[in-house]
Amino acid sequence: MKAQAEASPYDATPYLPRRGGLTAHRRAAAECRGCPLFENATQTVFGQGDSSARIVLVGEQPGDQEDKRGEPFVGPAGRLLGKALDEAGIDRDTAYVTNAVKHFKFTTAGGGKRRIHKAPDLREMTACRPWLLAELRLVAPEVVVALGATAGKALLGSSFRVTKERGTLIPMPEEDENPASGEDAQRYVVATLHPSAVLRADDREAAYAGLLSDLKVAAKALSDGDPSGT
Ligand code: URA
Repeated sequence: MKAQAEASPYDATPYLPRRGGLTAHRRAAAECRGCPLFENATQTVFGQGDSSARIVLVGEQPGDQEDKRGEPFVGPAGRLLGKALDEAGIDRDTAYVTNAVKHFKFTTAGGGKRRIHKAPDLREMTACRPWLLAELRLVAPEVVVALGATAGKALLGSSFRVTKERGTLIPMPEEDENPASGEDAQRYVVATLHPSAVLRADDREAAYAGLLSDLKVAAKALSDGDPSGT
């Protein structure tokens, strides 16, 4: 008989507060030990921004600078994202910005002096997902922008492919909807490239144009009021 695949022991669920808003969740997330990533990271980087934002931006995980400052998207990728949001007509100050994974995962180089980003694995993403779902439930945005493959998979499942599905309005799967915020309000995900992928791209200009055009899809959905266009 084949051995059954063992369930991952990683899970943030026991650390989530039973009630409370974003402040209570942020406080609780600071103590999360749901997977081993907390061990080497400086701190939990919880989402930040307008608690009633119409748009939520989801990245992969905090980078080096975010880990030190405790805020999402404050490093080079964040600056590029800010510029693209501005050009797309999305006011970052009225958005909520977060990550699929709330701790920085890295390897070291240069005798431990340099910290190099390492992508989170499926177990870490799955463990951290309850925090993201709680943020989406509490903020209840109309549109969620998935920045890159990790965010896309956290929101839309492991078969999600950013290259195939970017730049369109994808209905948010039911479990991620917020029943408290409106009868049958349909919410949408718009996936796009991660800003770090734009910074690394051989043809940075083309990659940036792609990011911008995808963000404009999200901006239009917001300005139309009803993202489905009906
Ligand atoms: N990259 C991310 O995905 N998130 C951040 O917060 C910073 C860089």
